Amino acid sequence: MSTTTDAPQVANGFRSAMRRMASSVCVITTSNGEMHQGMAASSVTSLSMQPPSLLVCINKSVAMHEAVHKAGLFCVNLLGEQHGPVCDAFGGKLSGQERFTVGQWTESAQGLRYLIDAPAAIICRLAAAHDYGTHTICIGAVEDVILAEHGAPLLYREGGVGKFVHLV
Ligand SMILES: Cc1cc2nc3c(=O)[nH]c(=O)nc-3n(C[C@H](O)[C@H](O)[C@H](O)COP(=O)(O)O)c2cc1C
Repeated sequence: MSTTTDAPQVANGFRSAMRRMASSVCVITTSNGEMHQGMAASSVTSLSMQPPSLLVCINKSVAMHEAVHKAGLFCVNLLGEQHGPVCDAFGGKLSGQERFTVGQWTESAQGLRYLIDAPAAIICRLAAAHDYGTHTICIGAVEDVILAEHGAPLLYREGGVGKFVHLV
C-alpha cells in the first residue's frame, strides 16, 4: 500500500483515487430560449427528498457555468449504456451546438433539451449555488421528471465507459 504526504503528491494521489471510482454520467442542458448548451457531468448527486433536490459541481471555466446561472433552470439527463458517443461529444469531443447532433434530443415543456431515451431526465430550478475552489456546487430543486422505459446506466471509470453488472 502507498501513502502520500506533500501537496503535489496528495493531488496526484487524489486524481488516481478518483479515477478508480465508477460514476454515472449525466449531460446537463440549459437554454436561454434561443441557444441550447450541454455538457457531460459525473458530479451529480441526490441531495434530499424533502424537498426533492440534487447537486451538480460545475467548473467555473466551462460555458455551462454562466449559462446555468443566467437561465436559472437546467435538465440533468442520466446517460444509458447506449450513450457512449453522447458522453464523448458532450465531454469535449465536440463543441457548442454540434454536440446535439449526437443522440436523439427533444424539448421539454420548460424549453430544455432532453434525450428521448435517457433513463431519467430531471428538470431543476437553480435553488442555490456555493463556490469552492475551481467549481460551484449548484443545487437544483426538482420541478419535473421524465422516465424512459429502459433504465440501465452508463458508467465512467479510468477515462472510459462501461456498464453496470449485477453480482447477485
Ligand atoms: C465523464 C465526464 C464527466 C465530467 N464531469 C464534469 C463535472 O461534473 N463538472 C464539470 O464542470 N465538468 C465535467 N466534465 C468536463 C466537461 O464535460 C467538459 O469540460 C466540457 O467540454 C465543458 O464544456 P465547454 O467546452 O462547452 O465549456 C466531465 C467530462 C466527462 C467526459
